[in-house]
Amino acid sequence: MFANTPGLMDEIRDRFSLVDTCPVQGPRIFFENAGGSLTLKSVVERSAEYAAFPDNQGRDNPASHHLVKTIDQAKKDIRTFFNAAGGQVFVGESGTELLFRLVRSACLGTAEGGQVIGSTLEHPATRSACLKWAGITKRSYRAADHNSQTGTVTVDDYLPIISADTRVATILHTSPVTGISVDVAAIARAIRSVAPECVIIVDGIQHAAHGGVDIESYDIDGYVISPYKVFSRHGYGIAWISDRLAKMPHDTLVDAPGTPWELGTRDTGSYATFSEVVRYLEWLGSRVCDVSGQRARIEAAARAMFEHERFLTNLMLSGSNTAKGLSAMPEIGLIGGTHNAHREGLVSLYVKDLDSEDIVSELSARGIRVHVRKADHYSANILTPLDLKSCVRVSLCHYNTQGEVIEFLKAMNSIVS
Ligand SMILES: Cc1ncc(COP(=O)(O)O)c(C=O)c1O
Repeated sequence: MFANTPGLMDEIRDRFSLVDTCPVQGPRIFFENAGGSLTLKSVVERSAEYAAFPDNQGRDNPASHHLVKTIDQAKKDIRTFFNAAGGQVFVGESGTELLFRLVRSACLGTAEGGQVIGSTLEHPATRSACLKWAGITKRSYRAADHNSQTGTVTVDDYLPIISADTRVATILHTSPVTGISVDVAAIARAIRSVAPECVIIVDGIQHAAHGGVDIESYDIDGYVISPYKVFSRHGYGIAWISDRLAKMPHDTLVDAPGTPWELGTRDTGSYATFSEVVRYLEWLGSRVCDVSGQRARIEAAARAMFEHERFLTNLMLSGSNTAKGLSAMPEIGLIGGTHNAHREGLVSLYVKDLDSEDIVSELSARGIRVHVRKADHYSANILTPLDLKSCVRVSLCHYNTQGEVIEFLKAMNSIVS
């Protein structure tokens, strides 16, 4: 996709820090984007700029007004990124912290009894929050079984566990272990058709950098992302909540005007850095498509990123005339199947008779950074049903190149043979 626009890939890569070099290890190919994407240079700059301000928000001085304006602008940008007109957007400590906070309030704020549901595909952030708060509020918890072969969960998997007394439901948008996305709108529709008042909370943390977010089309109550996985930095998470969820009891200061979900003094730098992410996506959208308007450009960027990542994962799986693809290496097993239309820039693999940790070390020695996922409290839900103790996760983003994938394939060929 980007190959159609000469020079675009260089322009894209030039906007990111440490694109091909680790400050500790030296030159490397970065295929650990599910652990944290590359950071935009503009994010690094804005972060430092706002870290230097001694001023607080809400004072009558020019610096304070500037900080408040920055936050207000960022909230507008985040809403456009999410395509969410109503409700609230706010930052918290991390994606996990926000998911816990949303699930807790939903469990405490809905009618007594009934059940909380989710799926076995989910990251422990939502599963743990649901188990804990379903227990405390004396509700049952049920999880829809995901499909181990396709690496995802569908409406058909949710249907047997949805009942009229389903008070809270969670949906994972994309698995960080299988890399396969979920049809959030279809599952939310199925839940609402049986339990219209259910509070539906979506974990969008793995999805957000790969295929666009469109909250207006989901009919949900909460959506959470972690900006360090969307070209920003560590140290904060972002949530959107519906007006209905916003009104439910939550931690807030007594007599605070409105129903704020932010706690304490806000980090203006976190908001400012997400505005930079949105500016970047607008720029990218304008480079790949002749559209005007912020949202249209963000959507164009999302489509282009998805297409480019699909091109890269197809190359990784099928290979080229210079390097054999993973699917042609008989020693290699692939999670989520070979041709999966819902794959989002991520391939998890295992090699017969080779330890995943050793493969990660071998790739690291060749300057290729990937990650091992183990059957621990993070990934056992995906790996144990496949009878696997671990896998190697290779996770890409739109700034990765064809050349990097070929290098990876050559390395894998030499490791497995
Ligand atoms: C789908 C998903 N949910 C939750 C998390 C946890 O995010 P955080 O570490 O930002 O709290 C991750 C982290 O990778 C994730 O991929």
